[in-house]
Amino acid sequence: MVKIIRKKILNPTVILMDVEAPLIAAKAEPGQFVILRVDAQGERIPLTIADYDRQRGTVAIIFQIVGAATMKLGELNEGGSIEDFVGPLGNPTNCSAKKVAIIGGGVGSAIAYPVAKKFFQQGAVVHAITGFRTRDLIILEDEFKKVSTEFVLVTDDGSSGRKALVTDALKSFLDRGETYDEVIAIGPLIMMKFVAALTKPLGIKTVVSMNPIMIDGTGMCGGCRLSVGGKTKFACVDGPDFDGHEIDFAEAMTRNAMYRPFESAARDTLCKLLGKEAV
Ligand SMILES: Cc1cc2nc3c(=O)[nH]c(=O)nc-3n(C[C@H](O)[C@H](O)[C@H](O)COP(=O)(O)OP(=O)(O)OC[C@H]3O[C@@H](n4cnc5c(N)ncnc54)[C@H](O)[C@@H]3O)c2cc1C
Ligand code: FES
Repeated sequence: MVKIIRKKILNPTVILMDVEAPLIAAKAEPGQFVILRVDAQGERIPLTIADYDRQRGTVAIIFQIVGAATMKLGELNEGGSIEDFVGPLGNPTNCSAKKVAIIGGGVGSAIAYPVAKKFFQQGAVVHAITGFRTRDLIILEDEFKKVSTEFVLVTDDGSSGRKALVTDALKSFLDRGETYDEVIAIGPLIMMKFVAALTKPLGIKTVVSMNPIMIDGTGMCGGCRLSVGGKTKFACVDGPDFDGHEIDFAEAMTRNAMYRPFESAARDTLCKLLGKEAV
């Protein structure tokens, strides 16, 4: 059991929780994740370690309520407990480059933030871009400003920041002559696919953080398999970061949609139990 010591609502569907997990906080690095179960009957869900405080022994998770497990997690409050909380899992992001563009789309910004922070703390030039559908969904704007050399916020509808897609913002940087050791894109599959398509002809190394369905998180079940450069890889032990130019995005999208009918049924049942509207 781990104790929730802070809960903060970041937007109508995204919540931050600081949990007491000193052993994980002692070893966590940007890019790594935990797998948790809200209660003993709960589904195992992977969530990225959005931040960590080694002195206080806490780690932060930021999650979007999309289905039954995240809805149950969102019902917990400060002082409450999460049944299992295992990590850090996966490989840390390689943060050795000297000049990077870091792109976060939607809740993917929560995964991009600790990566931007580490690069910035190590003295790298960080151009950060975050994108959201609309202003109500914006998260971590002030936090990104503090860990970037230059920060651009875009929204699809122009309700805050520039009315553009993250790829437009990246293109603006490239058009003014910026060059990068690498571009790191974290967000919806479709966003990462288009960032990789933009950078490939320019030969800019592009890292994407993959989020397939995971079960054990230790390389044994095969649930998280992906095709990368024609080879099968397991996101939990080989990733979650991969070369964006090598990923078979079409296959990844199909695999992520495989359990939609089961996910909808679980969500509807929980909504009825909680007397809530479906998310
Ligand atoms: C390495 C990794 C890191 C992640 N980090 C974050 C994060 O920091 N914040 C965040 O909001 N989300 C993150 N996710 C996605 C998160 O795990 C899913 O949103 C969550 O599992 C949904 O569970 P659910 O029961 O609420 O929704 P469901 O209705 O069960 O599923 C909704 C969608 O979530 C995805 N999903 C469902 N079950 C899993 C699973 N076991 N593993 C992976 N994806 C699943 C699928 O795309 C599915 O269509 C991460 C996923 C991975 C693989
Ligand atoms: S989650 Fe089972 S092999 Fe990766």
